Amino acid sequence: MRFPPAFLDEIRDRVPISSVIGQRVAWDRKKTNASRGDYWACCPFHGEKSPSFHCEDKKGRYHCFGCSVSGDHFKFLTELEGLSFPEAVEKIADMAGVPMPVRDAQEERREKERASLTDVMEMATAFFQERLQGPEGAKARAYLRDRGLTPATQQSFRLGFAPDSRNALKEHLAAKGVPKADIEACGLVRHGDDIPVSYDWFRDRIMFPIPDSRGKIIAFGGRALAADAPAKYMNSPDTELFHKGNVLYNFARARKALAKGGTVIAVEGYMDVIALAQAGFENVVAPLGTALTENQLELLWRMAPEPMLCFDGDKAGLKAAWRAADMALPSVQAGRSARFALLPEGKDPDDLVKAEGPDAFRAVLSDARPLVDLLWMRETAGGVFDTPERRAELEKTLRELTSRIRDESLRYHYQQEMRERVLSFFGSQRNARQGRQDGGRPGQRGQGKPAPGGQFAKAGGGRMAITESLGQSALVRRGEGMSVREATIIVALVNHPALIDENFAHVEFLDLANSDLTRLHAAILDAMAHDMANDRHAVVATIERAGCAEIWERAVGLIRRARQWPALETAALEDARDALNQALHLQRSARTLHKELKQAEAALEADPSDENFRHLIEIQAQFQDVQATEALIEGFGVSSGRAGRA
Ligand code: UTP
Ligand code: MN
Repeated sequence: MRFPPAFLDEIRDRVPISSVIGQRVAWDRKKTNASRGDYWACCPFHGEKSPSFHCEDKKGRYHCFGCSVSGDHFKFLTELEGLSFPEAVEKIADMAGVPMPVRDAQEERREKERASLTDVMEMATAFFQERLQGPEGAKARAYLRDRGLTPATQQSFRLGFAPDSRNALKEHLAAKGVPKADIEACGLVRHGDDIPVSYDWFRDRIMFPIPDSRGKIIAFGGRALAADAPAKYMNSPDTELFHKGNVLYNFARARKALAKGGTVIAVEGYMDVIALAQAGFENVVAPLGTALTENQLELLWRMAPEPMLCFDGDKAGLKAAWRAADMALPSVQAGRSARFALLPEGKDPDDLVKAEGPDAFRAVLSDARPLVDLLWMRETAGGVFDTPERRAELEKTLRELTSRIRDESLRYHYQQEMRERVLSFFGSQRNARQGRQDGGRPGQRGQGKPAPGGQFAKAGGGRMAITESLGQSALVRRGEGMSVREATIIVALVNHPALIDENFAHVEFLDLANSDLTRLHAAILDAMAHDMANDRHAVVATIERAGCAEIWERAVGLIRRARQWPALETAALEDARDALNQALHLQRSARTLHKELKQAEAALEADPSDENFRHLIEIQAQFQDVQATEALIEGFGVSSGRAGRA
């Protein structure tokens, strides 16, 4: 039922929030000042040893400076004690000695109706569960067994089976005296003016009952058993009980599991939730066949300040992640954000835990990126920012993006962060002019003002630093680790042989730093020479014949880890083409610059003039730009905390 706001205010005002919270926590004697209504305790929402949880009777609110939870009386009871909102209201009203408001008759009637509908849904759930165990359920049982779900898991999620019949459920419910109108209102049959005889909504499907926040079944998802069924999954239609954008699958259980700590994880599918629960991850929910909605995000934030949004390792998954990021952006605040985890190529969480166990999923979670990284990556990955115009455009895009954050203070911090990222990626010259010392980047000393004369005293330092930074750079490491850029070129070419033909000249004269990749390149040339370079299998076979199968696997592994999906076999040709062109462009600049740098160094060695010094500085600046762009294409996969490093 809906409570009049004035009533809520009244009971909230009458009950000091400390007396609600005090039933659950022990106040810290030193920090608390009870006479001022100012209380401190160790936070009951996250484990801690020193008190950073604060509540103030005057304001009627609590806030934890450690985990950022905050709220009022009702929120405390719903979130910590797991009460429903009406239950929390009842409890506070009781403490306040104020009687609950009389419900109006219409509201009362609707409540009753809803109760009778949930009874019907419960009967349907039991019916589907029984059918799964009966003779018609044999195929479905075998299917669930093959997918690795234990009987205990099936039972705890109350999985069922809808037989392949137009009226099995309908007749079952009718025989139990359920009125036709209720069956229709539950969305269990298809009916309407154009349907002379209503018939069961779900037929020949594995049934996933969908509970509401109190565990009552309000809808179903049904997975087709037949491979040729028109829709793999079908959900209940929206009903009085069920609005699919407002519900998360497994919400009630996940919330309970969160009491033990950790954050909530959102995945894409029912099967993922169930497989993860079986693997020991119980704090997992999923939306219901739609992209995550704003309401669902609110639900997640009610469970945890920084939910983990987990997306399948394919293009659709990445797109979904971006959509979720855009959706979340306006509403993020301190203590209300999200992290994003992407699964390895072509896998969903169910596949992953089944194939590689819970640790593999844990690794995916620990690789998760904050929202700011995801946005930065989307705006920069795959782009070439080699002119001032392009950089200005990037800055503009980022400004527009951050301006959508409603919270003023967070908006400010995002803007600052984005500015810093732009500076540290592109600002080699600018940084030097401002005298910025960016600790991680050697080679900046003294490079800012080469003229006028007498500068050379500083050049020694600059030159040493250049050599040092060259030595560390992936651009010039010969034979050592593969760079993502070079691996992208080779892997894209092998997986999309049409590109070999298109880039014939570049491919032939490709200059690679890595000696392993050079061997793969040689195999590609070999395949070309034997006219076999138009077929992926033939190219891979050539690689294997050359004894380079292990190198090939390593290169593909690197591409996966760096999440350069477009180079993989499953990518669309246009995407592979874009990725290849991008990488080839960088490769040419990098290799040319490397040579020029060597020459400039030699020239300076032979003739330490200001002019030679200036020339070296110029090339070094360009070189750093290429490195910055390179860090961009490595984007999401890099191991350090930030999206890339110059
Ligand atoms: P997926 O296609 O990733 O399915 O859809 P899945 O969860 O991995 O299922 P299995 O492993 O093939 O059995 C993810 C979610 O998208 C919705 C469902 O909610 C599903 O769980 N979906 C998918 C639909 O609503 N309709 C569809 O036809 C397909
Ligand atoms: Mn799946």
